Amino acid sequence: MKIAVLGYGVIGRGVVEICLTKKEIELVKIFDRKEKFDKQLIDLFTDNIDEILNDDSIELIVEVLGGYDFAKRIAIDAITHHKHFVTANKEVVAKDIDELSFLARQNCVAFCYEASVGGTIPIVKNLKALTLVNEITKITGILNGTTNYILSRMKENFSFEDALLDAKQKGFAESNPSFDLEGFDMMRKIAILSDLAWNTKIDIKQIKHVPVTEVKKYNLKKISKEKKTLKYICEATKIDQEIHLSVQLVALENDDLLSHINDEYNAVIIETKPAGKFVFVGKGAGSLPTAAAIVGDIYDILHQRVLDVYYNKNLYKIQ
Ligand SMILES: NC(=O)c1ccc[n+]([C@@H]2O[C@H](COP(=O)([O-])OP(=O)(O)OC[C@H]3O[C@@H](n4cnc5c(N)ncnc54)[C@H](OP(=O)(O)O)[C@@H]3O)[C@@H](O)[C@H]2O)c1
Repeated sequence: MKIAVLGYGVIGRGVVEICLTKKEIELVKIFDRKEKFDKQLIDLFTDNIDEILNDDSIELIVEVLGGYDFAKRIAIDAITHHKHFVTANKEVVAKDIDELSFLARQNCVAFCYEASVGGTIPIVKNLKALTLVNEITKITGILNGTTNYILSRMKENFSFEDALLDAKQKGFAESNPSFDLEGFDMMRKIAILSDLAWNTKIDIKQIKHVPVTEVKKYNLKKISKEKKTLKYICEATKIDQEIHLSVQLVALENDDLLSHINDEYNAVIIETKPAGKFVFVGKGAGSLPTAAAIVGDIYDILHQRVLDVYYNKNLYKIQ
């Protein structure tokens, strides 16, 4: 299958690195700004998006640009050009999951976004599968690698500022990590999971949240003496017909499973009826783990494993 990758940053480089080792995937174009072109792969690079959109041989586009307006426009253009679309962009997915999923179904292509929640954890496809049979009653998660890394260091007596600096140096926090620290990143992710679980559009402005910087108000030594651990947790619960969402700091008992999720790791607990509880743990950030989730989506499309797609064989030319 011929693919193009849009964005040659942290995640894009990981996607390119993995794709170049896979014989079923033929990477034919990489889009980024001219100054980002990699001399060793120079023949693949372009800064002209139309070259990709108008190339009928390209069947799938991976978007790892980030941002909203341009990325959203590209998503619509790619899908209406009958190209499968894979993205890690939680902002676009959280705001437009329903519109883009509908557009993709109309155009008989797949719209996949596994890497937009929980990095490498296969939570989107598993949640979709669980909803086929089960009622989802609650979702609880640690879904931001940066803030979990900061709290893990602070438990070892780092100051907030030193922990953030360490997260940036290790490549877990972006140079401007405000979306992570304010809680918006985790709000978008719990909104995406809630939309999948309950088929309801979530307006993230309605999510009760505190920024992780509030940790400075807590006495972590006292919490530790009480055999508890402070974690930044997102939660979505369906009570009667209402969905209650929050992103907050919670002092968990040390025998709570989530209190043991450290550093850049993420975890999601899905409570269901009748199947019971499911726990997913994995790396929530970083180039290759996130890229692995994206390439997993490419393989699902290649092997027609995406759950909500009507596969039109005429549009679906597998080599
Ligand atoms: N980093 C992670 O651990 C992680 C984990 C899960 C999901 N994600 C998501 O993955 C996506 C990519 O993240 P990233 O960390 O790889 O970002 P990044 O390192 O900033 O890479 C994005 C690349 O795309 C380029 N780009 C953006 N807009 C462009 C435009 N209009 N025209 C041409 N080039 C453009 C950027 O160039 P400029 O810098 O010059 O704009 C940059 O080279 C984001 O949606 C992010 O939320 C990231």
